[in-house]
Amino acid sequence: MAVVASAPAKVILFGEHFVVYGEPAIVLAIDKRAYAKTETRNDKLLHISSTNLDLAVTIANGNLKVERGDLKEAKMKFEPVKQAAEKVMEKCGERTGLNIEINSTIPVAAGLGSSAAVVAAVSASVGELLHIKMTKEDIFKMTFEAERFVHGTPSGVDPAIATFGGTLLFQMDTGFKPLEASTEIPLVIGETGVERSTRVQVEKVRDVRERFPQVVEPMMQAAREIALRAIDAFKENDLETLGSLMNINHALLYGIGVSDESLEWLVNAARKGGALGAKLTGAGGGGCMIALAKDEKLQHVMEAIQRAGGRPFIARKTDEGVRVEQS
Ligand code: MEV
Repeated sequence: MAVVASAPAKVILFGEHFVVYGEPAIVLAIDKRAYAKTETRNDKLLHISSTNLDLAVTIANGNLKVERGDLKEAKMKFEPVKQAAEKVMEKCGERTGLNIEINSTIPVAAGLGSSAAVVAAVSASVGELLHIKMTKEDIFKMTFEAERFVHGTPSGVDPAIATFGGTLLFQMDTGFKPLEASTEIPLVIGETGVERSTRVQVEKVRDVRERFPQVVEPMMQAAREIALRAIDAFKENDLETLGSLMNINHALLYGIGVSDESLEWLVNAARKGGALGAKLTGAGGGGCMIALAKDEKLQHVMEAIQRAGGRPFIARKTDEGVRVEQS
């Protein structure tokens, strides 16, 4: 018997990086998903493969052997998957061999929460396969644990949205709250095609904050104010205000050193193309940017991003977090 589970990608609309220091972030699940198909094996091996990354490994007694792809990449990408699968097995008190096949439409290392979505999908799928009752809260915790391995000091925003879906207001001390958004938020995502590491980007910010605490603290306060004002703008469906707040948020992110040339090109092109606002999303340093535009301008903005060298696509909000697709 095989079980398939999936979890969504995300975009952070407001508050990335600042959220690591306790400020609020607003995040939206989008209609790109990571899928994990699992089945039991007759031995005790763990076999993990990813179609889109073209990687496959076998793990026996903790030793990882690469069957396809690069060893370093396989270790980086699959360690959180292995950890999640083992945590679920611990919960059921029994070790069994597993085949885990990952299939994802989410761009990797691009700020769209691919790693959290993969781990949430794997946790749900292994749990269902082994008949373990897992609440969304359990899946969130497991995904968060595995994210610590990838990112060092994650805020938890990526695991939260991959698990619960929808639009969330997230803050480290209070957790997440579904956010009222009265309408569709017309967003274009622009991929720079530049891969980067969230861990490195988060460390950059830590360094700037340590060197210039008095400079960075007011920026943190500004980021908080932006997120709070955005909550009201959401309720009132005030796209103009949301766009302006996105622009200011991007300026703060630029200030703490997490934008790069590839993002600046796309952000500027989107604004010139008629976007109400544009900013990097996620950890920055490459990855993706987002632009908010009225429906009649979406096509223009897409073309502007493309002309500037980016890969644009329209993001649609999804309410569905992690789910079992087939068992
Ligand atoms: C990454 O998607 C968002 C960051 O704020 C890191 C985190 O919150 O864990 C950069």
